[in-house]
Amino acid sequence: MKIEKVHFPGNVFLAPMANVTNIPFRLMCRNYGASMAYSEMISSDAVIHDSSKAFSRGLSCKNEKPFGIQIFGNSPDIISKAALKIEETYQPDIIDVNFGCPAHLLVKDGSGSALLRSPDLIYSIVKELCETVSTPVTAKIRVLKDIERTVQIAGLIEKAGACAITVHGRTQQQHYAGKASHEYAKRIKCEVTIPVIANGDIIDEISAKDTLEYTGCDGIMIGRAAMGNPFLFRRISHYLKTGEILDYNECRQRTADLEEYLGLLEKYDLTDTVNLRSHAQWFTKGIRGGKNIRNRIADAKDIDEIIDSVRQMCGVAHEKPV
Ligand SMILES: Cc1cc2nc3c(=O)[nH]c(=O)nc-3n(C[C@H](O)[C@H](O)[C@H](O)COP(=O)(O)O)c2cc1C
Repeated sequence: MKIEKVHFPGNVFLAPMANVTNIPFRLMCRNYGASMAYSEMISSDAVIHDSSKAFSRGLSCKNEKPFGIQIFGNSPDIISKAALKIEETYQPDIIDVNFGCPAHLLVKDGSGSALLRSPDLIYSIVKELCETVSTPVTAKIRVLKDIERTVQIAGLIEKAGACAITVHGRTQQQHYAGKASHEYAKRIKCEVTIPVIANGDIIDEISAKDTLEYTGCDGIMIGRAAMGNPFLFRRISHYLKTGEILDYNECRQRTADLEEYLGLLEKYDLTDTVNLRSHAQWFTKGIRGGKNIRNRIADAKDIDEIIDSVRQMCGVAHEKPV
């Protein structure tokens, strides 16, 4: 898949997720076949007012290329200035604007999904941003109940110069409840000429293929199902290539992935920044005895104890899975 001048090795992307898609996690997803990953969202205000914590979310490395940084805000001017600073510092391949976050903190500020009520402002943000940076700009939206108005917003985003759009098929009011509707992405794909990426409730090989087929979209984006489960990208890319479901040992795979993830957090000096226990617990979701392991992780004192509890419960020795 291609977005303007950027080539991707496939069309299955990792969604931007605050407090989840840090560099270690993104690297693992990329290694397992995610075609691109976006940073956690970065506040344009924080970038301009020099918050180093927010700004450091843009950190990437050569192995991760191509790589996208997502930004949010409510002012065309501040978003553009912040994006310029991000571009100069991190040289991302894509800069994405968040028009979908339903979190109260953003919405009360007129950012994220609140902007869906102001299509003209969305247009101005994307236009000024595209005129300011040389990096290709993409946008990620939620949907409105009214499909026609949602399609109009997508059209404005294209007209303003964005070179791709991601559609999360839920409204702001739904937050994460209910089922994502891919009807919106399907309609938008028919109406715009830029690539469209469908997002929402893609959890496995079958839902990935079904969503691509149903929507006719250029790509799909996966969020929550990848949390603690970066190997999902290997499974899905294998299935999309061969039509076969990959056979693997889930418990061993999750244990090995957790160990790798914890190692990478140490490498990137992030062990004090993330909530280690909840991140580790994500890796045990869906595996047999997962609840017991999560309880043990909650009581673990440090990384070694976390790893030991997972190994013991899974009966896994010091070995890598095949
Ligand atoms: C913990 C968490 C953090 C998220 N942070 C962001 C974010 O920073 N930017 C964004 O555009 N969407 C964010 N999202 C939304 C996801 O990118 C995605 O659109 C949503 O989860 C639907 O996809 P899924 O059903 O595959 O999870 C977040 C979602 C979750 C669960």
